[in-house]
Parts: sequence; structure tokens; C-alpha cells
Amino acid sequence: MSKIYASMLSIGAYSPERRLTNVDLEKMVDTSDEWIVKRTGIKERRIAADDQAASDLGVLAARQAIERANLAIGDIDLIIAATLSGDFLFMPSTAAVIAGKLGAINIPAFDALAACSGFIYALATAKAYIESGMASNVLIAGAEASSRFMDYSDRSVCVLFGDGAGAAVIGATDDPSAAIIDTKIASDGTQWDNLYIDGGGKNPIREGKPYRPFIRMKGNETFKLAVRALSSDVAEILARNNLKASQIKHFIPHQANLRIIKAVSETLGLSEEQVVLTIERYGNTGAASIPMAINDLYESGKLNKGDLMLLDAFGGGLAWGSALARFGGDAGR
Ligand code: ACO
Repeated sequence: MSKIYASMLSIGAYSPERRLTNVDLEKMVDTSDEWIVKRTGIKERRIAADDQAASDLGVLAARQAIERANLAIGDIDLIIAATLSGDFLFMPSTAAVIAGKLGAINIPAFDALAACSGFIYALATAKAYIESGMASNVLIAGAEASSRFMDYSDRSVCVLFGDGAGAAVIGATDDPSAAIIDTKIASDGTQWDNLYIDGGGKNPIREGKPYRPFIRMKGNETFKLAVRALSSDVAEILARNNLKASQIKHFIPHQANLRIIKAVSETLGLSEEQVVLTIERYGNTGAASIPMAINDLYESGKLNKGDLMLLDAFGGGLAWGSALARFGGDAGR
């Protein structure tokens, strides 16, 4: 029997229509377009409509990904969602809500909770399910409505994040030239207080405290930890697969800060053409940022079957991860 590989069969995304520009933010907090562009690379971000939660964005991205894989909802046998701004606090999972809205009843659905690296955690899990024969077609979705968890008086955080969703279908193939080659995920829970959301059992929201749970971040500390972890992580995944950075067609990093992306790209010696950037238009869309960036590349006609992608993310947990994958989708064009 030939070996079963996991392949990214398709990609889809959705970004809400409402735009929040740096100029808009100038009216809300003590900041400037110049500071935000220079320190982060962000010009604008999208904000979900009042009646859209993370699952609504995720469903739109998921439908596109399933259609582009030439599959029907009934062909999906597992759904994994990645989010830091899900519809509910802990239960139900956003994956279950997405599955319900898609009409995918009676299949497993769960969240991969790893903040901004959640999409890579979901990808690693989907790969393992497929290679072990436990699933044939896995829908993975990164979906964020992080504006709901934003303290719009905290200028060090609110300028960074935006809403959006991206999804992919990971399916079985016997073709190694279209396979996910390797994934590498890791965490360091001793550093949790650099980046977290208020309001769980550790820090319950009680009367007298702000009602809404907010994203809290020590930006400067997180920045340094992100550059260090990501640089060594991507070097390691390349080395253990005997690949050189020059062989990567598309480096698709989590879009948290242009300076982090540049620092990691420079360490690897990547050229500008290899690095995919969407941060200017969407900001940090959490677990959705990587699939949204893959989708951008796909829709601009630059992503073809067999292209070697290096994915790379870092976020709350702290949790981080990278993946080497050849794009497996040629359907839907
Ligand atoms: N406008 C103007 N000034 C600002 C703003 C703002 N929006 N935000 C902070 N400042 C000020 C600070 O108050 C500080 O002023 P001070 O020197 O008078 O005290 C000064 O700018 C410098 O602040 P730093 O925090 O040192 O700025 P830095 O260059 O580190 O940039 C940033 C801050 C953009 C948050 C950066 O640290 C960053 O991107 N961090 C990493 C984010 C990240 O990767 N997160 C992980 C992924 S996200 C996830 O998983 C949820």
C-alpha cells in the first residue's frame, strides 16, 4: 500500500468590509499614522460587522475552501478551528459552531487554542489525522473577531489587531510533490503573562472590573521573544528536512509586525520576492493571518500546485510553530 500524505487541497478567506484606518485610530487614542506605519507596517485593518462573530467569518472562508477543493460539506470528516476571539468563552468551541452553521453534524469538531499560531497547530493536527488514516478531509479554519476583545483606549495593543478568517481543506494524497512535508509546534507556558486575555478562571471578571475581557500584551518583551523563537524555529525545520532557505518559494509568516517579519527573513537570507506581506492592509488577524496571506497569494495567481511554502507563527501561550508544505490545490481555477 502506498504511503498516505496530507495535502493542502485548497485555500479560502474572508475579510469584513468595514475598514479601521490609522487615521481613524488617531481620533480614538494618542497615536499617529506615522508611528503605526514605522513601528508595525500596518495602515488599516478590517472590523467585523456588529452581527458577525468569529464563526460567521470562519464559515464564509470555509465554504470557499470547500468549494475550491471541489468537495461537498459531507466530504469533510473533521473540523478544527483556531481562534483567540471565539464566539464563546471556552464552550462551545468555535469549531462546533462553524460545523453547525455548515450543516456538518455528527463529525468531530474542536478548537486548536494556540493564539496566533493556532493555524499551524491545526495544520499539524490535520496532518497527523490524515497520515494515520483517521480522517480523509479535514477543514481547518483560523477565524478572528478580536475587535470584540480590544481595549480601544490601550494604544499599545488596539492599533495592531484586525478581524478576518482563512480556511483550508487538508486531504489525503499519494503524491509527495503536493504534500505537507513537516510541521513543528512548541510552547513556553512560563511566559504566559506576556500576552493573554482577561476573564478566565485565573482572573475572573467580577463586578467593579471592566466587563469585557481584553487582550493584554507586553509588546516589547513579546517582540524580542518572537524574533528569537521564530528565527531558530524556521532554521531548525529547514535543517531537519535538508532544505535551504533559497529553495522556499513563499515564506508566509504570521503578520504581527513588519519588523519581526523582516528580522526573521534577514536571518534566513530570504529575498523580498519570497516573503508574503499582507500586514499593511489587514494588521494582525491572529490565527487567520497565515491562511488569509496564503489566500491573497492564491488569488493573485502566484500560488501554484507544488510550490514550496514555509509557514511560521508566534503568539500567546507563548506558543509558536512552523510548517513546510507544498501547495496541493489546483482545483477551483
Ligand atoms: N502610538 C504611539 N506611541 C505608542 C503606541 C502607539 N500606538 N504604542 C506604544 N507607544 C509608545 C510607548 O508608550 C513607548 O513610549 P515611551 O518610550 O514614552 O514609554 C514607545 O512608543 C515605545 O514603546 P515600545 O512598546 O517599546 O514600542 P515597540 O517598538 O516595541 O512597538 C509593538 C510596540 C508594535 C507592540 C511591538 O512591540 C510589537 O509588535 N510587539 C510584538 C507583537 C507580537 O508579535 N505579538 C505576538 C503575536 S500576537 C498574538 O499572539 C495574539
